Amino acid sequence: MEHAYRFSVAPMLDCTDRHFRVLMRQISRRCLLTTEMVVARALHHIRSEASGPRAAEAERRLERLLGFDGEERPLALQLGGDDPGLLAEAARLGAAWGYDEINLNLGCPSEKVQQGRFGACLMADPERVARCVAAMVAASDRPVTVKQRIGIDALDSYEHLLGFVDTLAAAGTARFAIHARKAWLDGLDPKQNRTIPPLRWDLVHRLKRDRPELVIELNGGLEDLAGCLTQLEHVDGVMVGRAAYGHPIRWAAVDREIFADGGRPEVRASDVVIGLVPHAERWCSGGGRLWAIGRHLVHLVEGVPGARPWRHRLTQAAGERGAGPEVLVEAARQLRERGL
Ligand SMILES: Cc1cc2nc3c(=O)[nH]c(=O)nc-3n(C[C@H](O)[C@H](O)[C@H](O)COP(=O)(O)O)c2cc1C
Repeated sequence: MEHAYRFSVAPMLDCTDRHFRVLMRQISRRCLLTTEMVVARALHHIRSEASGPRAAEAERRLERLLGFDGEERPLALQLGGDDPGLLAEAARLGAAWGYDEINLNLGCPSEKVQQGRFGACLMADPERVARCVAAMVAASDRPVTVKQRIGIDALDSYEHLLGFVDTLAAAGTARFAIHARKAWLDGLDPKQNRTIPPLRWDLVHRLKRDRPELVIELNGGLEDLAGCLTQLEHVDGVMVGRAAYGHPIRWAAVDREIFADGGRPEVRASDVVIGLVPHAERWCSGGGRLWAIGRHLVHLVEGVPGARPWRHRLTQAAGERGAGPEVLVEAARQLRERGL
């Protein structure tokens, strides 16, 4: 059986929340999903309040940051931080909550993240990252993985990449998800850092050739299944971000093509919407708003006649106060009528 990391959905703040993950799970039963980045220090603060007078509020905040539905698994928790002790505590907590993997963010170039001295700037300090990874490995029985860039600023030689990966491998890193672009911490904002530095898939391929014993996953600029299958000739896994969020149905054949799961028919948009109904029932009956789920559906139907009015009706209905799962049932019916 193929490992779930053969195809994974990249962590994306404001995108890969629990609702989008349940949506993606309707499309692929087999792929690995990942949370948005959760800051280890924030978890520590919340936990320190868990036994005081604000315990109930602390519980609610933990649930907001860490809660997920069982059907989202296999699921990785992505952590941000640079303190071995805090990351170990967060990894232990993640394992206790039932996450399958703990991932450390070494790729985010945002200024806010740099001030906290974590994310991509940690690529300048491999020894510190190695201490973080070792502490996380010791604290939990889950695989500890990293998500990194190929380099940052002037530290962009292949030799630096290789040395960085070797140091982290020795500390117990189980898999390297590599965004095949360097990050310019000084001068480019996070969005520019996802488009302007050129993609260097070749460097990730070279890394896998030079370190065949390591598990290497390639991320960055993958647009479709054919492109992923080509990459899988060179690396152990592919990770897709924007093209998964912006075009979920594009990945309907992932289980068949990547996981050789021939028994499963390709899902249609209406199946995805219907598949979300049990989740919506649980969410709304717990006081959640349907919009939290509905907002992710706007990219589900594209490039077919009637897509725009369908989207319009759905966003209006899902955004109304008191809207419930019946909105999804009706939206799915409309799609079925069109054979979608
Ligand atoms: C809106 C958005 C939010 C992101 N948030 C995170 C994050 O929380 N952690 C992280 O490691 N990467 C984050 N990324 C980077 C993606 O995980 C991924 O590395 C990047 O988008 C390149 O992959 P792609 O070309 O397939 O989108 C984010 C990207 C986007 C577009």
